Amino acid sequence: MVQDLNQLFQSDPDRFSKLTLENDFLLADFSKNHIESLRLLREEQMKTIELVRKNFFDGEKINHTEERAAMHFRLRRSEVKDEIDQEVFTVRDQFLNFGDLTYHQRIVGFSGRAIDTVVNIGIGGSDLGPKFLYDALKDYRGNTKVYFVSNIDGQALNDVLMEINPETTLFIVCSKTFTTQETLQNAQSAKSWMIEKMGKNCISDHFVAVSTHVQLAKEFGIDESRIFGFWDWVGGRYSLWSAVGLSLVCAIGATHFRELLQGAECADLAFEHDPIEKNLPVILAGIDHHYFQKNGFNSKVVAAYSHRLALLVPFLQQLVMESNGKGVDVDGKTVQRSGVVWWGAPGTDAQHSFFQLIHQGTEKIHVEFIGVTQQPHSQQEHQTKLLSNLFAQSRALMIGQKSTSPEKNFSGNRPSSTLLLKEITPRSMGYLVATYEHRVLCEAALFNINPFDQFGVELGKKLCNELLPFIQNALNPQNLDSSTVGLIQYFHKNG
Ligand code: F6P
Repeated sequence: MVQDLNQLFQSDPDRFSKLTLENDFLLADFSKNHIESLRLLREEQMKTIELVRKNFFDGEKINHTEERAAMHFRLRRSEVKDEIDQEVFTVRDQFLNFGDLTYHQRIVGFSGRAIDTVVNIGIGGSDLGPKFLYDALKDYRGNTKVYFVSNIDGQALNDVLMEINPETTLFIVCSKTFTTQETLQNAQSAKSWMIEKMGKNCISDHFVAVSTHVQLAKEFGIDESRIFGFWDWVGGRYSLWSAVGLSLVCAIGATHFRELLQGAECADLAFEHDPIEKNLPVILAGIDHHYFQKNGFNSKVVAAYSHRLALLVPFLQQLVMESNGKGVDVDGKTVQRSGVVWWGAPGTDAQHSFFQLIHQGTEKIHVEFIGVTQQPHSQQEHQTKLLSNLFAQSRALMIGQKSTSPEKNFSGNRPSSTLLLKEITPRSMGYLVATYEHRVLCEAALFNINPFDQFGVELGKKLCNELLPFIQNALNPQNLDSSTVGLIQYFHKNG
């Protein structure tokens, strides 16, 4: 980088206060980046973001390839403004009511025993958000235990079936489309297991569905009164606020889930109304734009110094990379650059694994540190050491170290941002996740791409269906590449 971060700090004693942003939930420190102000974008880029933001909140069909709006912000509104909101409120009350009864263990199964265990069967957006928050909000859970089964590897379902009691378990089949192979296979196997354990009449008491395709859920055998719907204007990776969050409601109760929605609504209002230079999602997108589009950085590491945020990275990976990993712009023209790779792991574990490469390697990586100032536990010595580690890492990346031994030399001048949350609560998590959602939209606006479709996942699904009959029936396919044929034959011999 041309500028040296250390010199920038030396030449401006107010750098930290100029380049930080503070609100009820967090402090965002951008000062260890190669920037001079939080106004990071050119005039026309800001206009682009303003237009996309307006179209988004106006409910325009900004997901133009699928001719859909993206209106997940409606799922966290606290006031009814029109008929669509009214419908959202009605469905919200239904799934919150059912989830809250499950949280209080007031739903009974076929044998009359109370449900105390929930298994969410879903994948991608129908899994990652609720699973991340189930973990993050552990301190807000009641007594109902929730498992998540996503992978089609039978081991995933089997591991859960070995631990649960069929009499007291409720399965949530969570699938926007109700056509996803992994989810349907897992749901079918769970259904067979239940029938084997308790007979075929038990299904309506032990299965509920979350889907936009009520008919398909009914055909699966789920009682219509236990199918919680949502709308095609909710993208899978933006859906945790809808009935997709039912498993989370069962775990933390309706009151905490409403707080989660309130936190997200705070992020919506801030994104819609804050001036651009104080608008957190816009600044986060601006920093990414600065490094990835202008300075050749290749990836983003998220290092959350919080045990509770261990599943933040997998959630963000779908949110960010399924949204912005695109090859063409909104006009169908090939783009030179779109979303980069996001990866990471919780600190301090990450320090003892891949941080070597971030400190001394040749890859250009931007790091986003996340910390939490107040923890519910009383292990104060752990907390002070945890935060010392966090602050030391961003400082080490920046100041580096000169040494006469080349292997002990640290170039320094490596940038990072730090988000310091006050605490992990349903509200702060709602705020954080919705802020990341809006940041993805801003980045997509800067790339001029559509963040709401995901055609890149389709080809693999199609080829899987084409290969399946050969694999199931031990046939040798014709006219395929020799690698695929060789792999199939090896499976036939050894599977
Ligand atoms: O991976 C593709 C995808 O369509 C995601 O966008 C989605 O979150 C996931 O599959 C699951 O889809 P569904 O909820 O329809 O089962």
